Amino acid sequence: MRKIIIAGNWKMNNTISQAQDLIAALIKNGGDMHKVEVIVAPPFTALRSVYDILGQSSVHVAAQNLFWEESGAYTGEVSPMMVKEAGCKWVIIGHSERRQIFGETDETVNKRTAAALGSELKPIVCIGETLEERDAGQTFDVLHRQLDGGLKGLTEENMAKITIAYEPVWAIGTGKTATPAQAQEAHEKIRAKLSSMFGAGVAEKVRILYGGSMKPANALELLSLPDVDGGLIGGASLKAHDFVDIIKAGIEAEKL
Ligand code: 13P
Repeated sequence: MRKIIIAGNWKMNNTISQAQDLIAALIKNGGDMHKVEVIVAPPFTALRSVYDILGQSSVHVAAQNLFWEESGAYTGEVSPMMVKEAGCKWVIIGHSERRQIFGETDETVNKRTAAALGSELKPIVCIGETLEERDAGQTFDVLHRQLDGGLKGLTEENMAKITIAYEPVWAIGTGKTATPAQAQEAHEKIRAKLSSMFGAGVAEKVRILYGGSMKPANALELLSLPDVDGGLIGGASLKAHDFVDIIKAGIEAEKL
């Protein structure tokens, strides 16, 4: 049984005070959040203050990125231990915005993933095709390449700590969601690829999240799909009531 994960990626939104307001509203209205695994990924500057407010709540904090070195002359970068000490248990790696805007490659995704595992952080490794790649019939080649490259050298034991997020680039921030059939097909193919890489037993346990314009109106349908084990939510995670509604959809789907 794969416990559903509802993760909010706040991207470059929310100052410290705005982040504190959002997390306070989430805790107040979140209800039975412990029935699923709820994660929020604030910007680096707000990590610690969000973590401090969470207290005994079951919500966990994720960083949106990290660098693979432990320390040194890497201006502008943040190390695994830095985010860990700020309260993170999780880290998002290789988000398509990092790949497309900041030149992230499968190789750098792999280095960050290995560094996160080395510091006992749980990576959420993002993969997904662009619209051009989908239209050219390359979707599954792209996903396979990203999995081969991003997870290179990892062991079966490492895979117990890995979560995959399938985020079709054309669905991110566009209001255009993958249809349930498209999402299920991609997730199934991803699991089959993981099975060929690490064995069926490992693949059955890895959680694969869907991301791309998930919102209260479509969350239950997507989260109920057999190979969709949660959501990575951007825009809708910035509004407490929308995020709470998606968490409720996750709790509902968990029961199915
Ligand atoms: P949206 O939910 O805004 O489409 O963003 C998805 C995403 O990129 C989450 O990482």
